Amino acid sequence: MAGPLLVAEGDRVAVAARRVMARCDELARVSATSDAIERVYLSAEHARVNRLAAEWMRELGMTARQDAAGNLVGRLDTAGAPDPDAPALVLGSHLDTVPDAGRYDGIVGVLMALEVVRLLRVPRADGDGDGRGFVSPLPFALEVIAFSDEEGTRFGKALLGSSAVAGLWRDDWWTLTDADGMTLREAFVEFGLDPARVGEAARRPAELVGYLEAHIEQGPELDDRGEPLAVVSSIASARRFQLVVTGEARHAGGTPYDRRRDALLGASEAALAVERICRAEHHVIGTVGRLEAYPGAVNVVPGEAHLSLDLRGELDERRDAVWGSIEAELDAIMGRRGLRWQAREVHSAPAVFCAPLLQDVVREGIVSTLPRGGDAPTTLFSPAGHDGMSIGAVTGVGMLFLRNPDGISHHPGESVSTADVALGVRALAESVLQLASDRG
Ligand code: GLV
Ligand code: MN
Ligand code: MN
Repeated sequence: MAGPLLVAEGDRVAVAARRVMARCDELARVSATSDAIERVYLSAEHARVNRLAAEWMRELGMTARQDAAGNLVGRLDTAGAPDPDAPALVLGSHLDTVPDAGRYDGIVGVLMALEVVRLLRVPRADGDGDGRGFVSPLPFALEVIAFSDEEGTRFGKALLGSSAVAGLWRDDWWTLTDADGMTLREAFVEFGLDPARVGEAARRPAELVGYLEAHIEQGPELDDRGEPLAVVSSIASARRFQLVVTGEARHAGGTPYDRRRDALLGASEAALAVERICRAEHHVIGTVGRLEAYPGAVNVVPGEAHLSLDLRGELDERRDAVWGSIEAELDAIMGRRGLRWQAREVHSAPAVFCAPLLQDVVREGIVSTLPRGGDAPTTLFSPAGHDGMSIGAVTGVGMLFLRNPDGISHHPGESVSTADVALGVRALAESVLQLASDRG
């Protein structure tokens, strides 16, 4: 059942999907390294992609501005005098990446949002034919936000961009440091932002109609089911820790085993314990993604080890109970090995449940792309984190997942097909129309 407005738009949607794919390629070339994709918060690459995406927004007749936290915000007002306080439906995702990233995580959602604006905008009645001659035909303005930091690659704390938009910024984040020891405050200033004004990025609930995001699944469920699109029911809660294990650095040849306090072996046992404990739980997932030994010499028993822990859960209470079990197990492991350990929590975000109304409109958007009488679309919980985790604090969140072949993501082999992007653009546009019609 094709939706009302887009029934005759097959060609435009196909062109839109091809443009999304070509732009994903173009943005992939904006990278800190020549042999991989890496684009982190407040970097020169961040500034370059914001400039490119701002041009694409202006071509659509949107206004484009970089907010006080480096997010790029495009807006298409309704007819009449532009009113910056008139409620807007926000579409979007993020343009930052993990190290050695794929080219679609986040990026495809921003570019699809721009295509939805292109499909839905109408010429301004008194338009002069130039790029500013378009308005939103809906009972609300349309915004596209390209969030500046979802991954947390540079400062360890994820969702910095969307936290600023949601008014969740915390002053204790200013002292977070990157791998070169630069603080978040210093990076703000270097990027040309004023730390004292970060609060200006915050949006009020009254300004927002809701938030809709399209994103690749980052797991194999849709690929395994042979389905292109899914409705998202909720986004996992997350906590991230930096763990330090302390033992004693000593001679690798001269120190008998019973005299060793090897921090790397304690950390390795800890990583295995995280896997064992989380495997026994439904929908709680723990990952040790980084492990460093010091002093890091081949002939020295490691005296200190640093490891990261990323812990997610469908429900905050289960995730926190699992963290309690991990803490008890680490006490036992380190006690047996004569080691000390401590944890610093660098990120915490509660689970976010997608708003029932927005789940419904996303479902109807997907149904509009299916053959008549097809099965109801699948609904999935997202173990991957998304900007909606913070935006959920100021407005309702709805998400649409796209099939991700082999479920591979956070890897250069990440992919999505042009055909699925076309279905996704159409479903997202229909979702917006459905929301507009529900709001009268
Ligand atoms: C981001 O993609 C995350 O889930 O950590
Ligand atoms: Mn993402
Ligand atoms: Mn990601």
